[in-house]
This record gives sequence, structure tokens and C-alpha cells, in this order.
Amino acid sequence: MDININELITSAIGARKNAYAPYSEFYVGAALLAASGKIFVGCNAENSSYPVGICAERSAFAAALSAGERDFLALALIGGKNAEKTHKFCYPCGMCRQFMSEFCKPDFKIISAKSEKEYDINTLGKLLTKGFDLDV
Ligand code: THU
Repeated sequence: MDININELITSAIGARKNAYAPYSEFYVGAALLAASGKIFVGCNAENSSYPVGICAERSAFAAALSAGERDFLALALIGGKNAEKTHKFCYPCGMCRQFMSEFCKPDFKIISAKSEKEYDINTLGKLLTKGFDLDV
């Protein structure tokens, strides 16, 4: 299946508008493309007890998994302090990379975006080498 990068980034930008980040003021949106063709979005949601908050990526995965999806092709991600202008590419934190490795193969695409026109594509295999695996 073809990956519509533009649509995926637009979805991540939309999800970022719902980010709840009053503590860090770092707003993140993610859009996850399932093999079914459906897109699931997530945003970060912080908590006054800081470690309780969740990242945008795991939020998107939780939405997709809750809908019965198990196969995934790509995730677009956009984040930063200024929602109007994104200066830097945002890459998934280590915890999210490990979370993705439970469901995604090394060729899973992670698209870090500044806009629909400016993005950096990586694979999970590149961003997470030697992740934890109980079967090792
Ligand atoms: N955050 C994400 O949503 N995704 C990441 O991959 C890294 C960080 C969020 C968590 C927290 O709400 C804020 O960004 C600052 O760390």
C-alpha cells in the first residue's frame, strides 16, 4: 500500500492542536497509518504528577490497538514549543521506540515533520537498534 505522507503529516499537525502540555509547553502530534489504510492520531497528555503523562506516539498506538489494529506501516510526528512554527524535527523518545518495536518491524517508517513540505524519514530499525526482546 502506498503511504500518503502529506495526509499523514496533516493528521499529525491536526492532532498536535489537541496536545495537553501545560507543564513542558512542548506540543506533540502523531498520526499512525495502519495496514488497513486507516489513520489513528495521538497527542501528548501531561499530568501534574509528571511521569504519569503519555507521549503522542503511544497515544496514537493505544487508539489504533483499541480499534483492533495490529499491523502498521508508518507514523508521522511533529512537535515543539511553538505550534505556529516548528523549527526542529522531533524524534520518538526511547520508550516510544521500544513500544513500537512490539508491533512494528524494522522497516516501519517514522516521519519526523516540520511541515508537509519538510520532513525526515527514518525506519524503526535505524532509530532503535538492539531493542529489548524477551525471545533473545
Ligand atoms: N513527548 C512526546 O509526546 N513524544 C516523544 O517522543 C517525546 C516527548 C512529550 C512528552 C511530554 O509531554 C513533552 O513531550 C515533553 O517531554
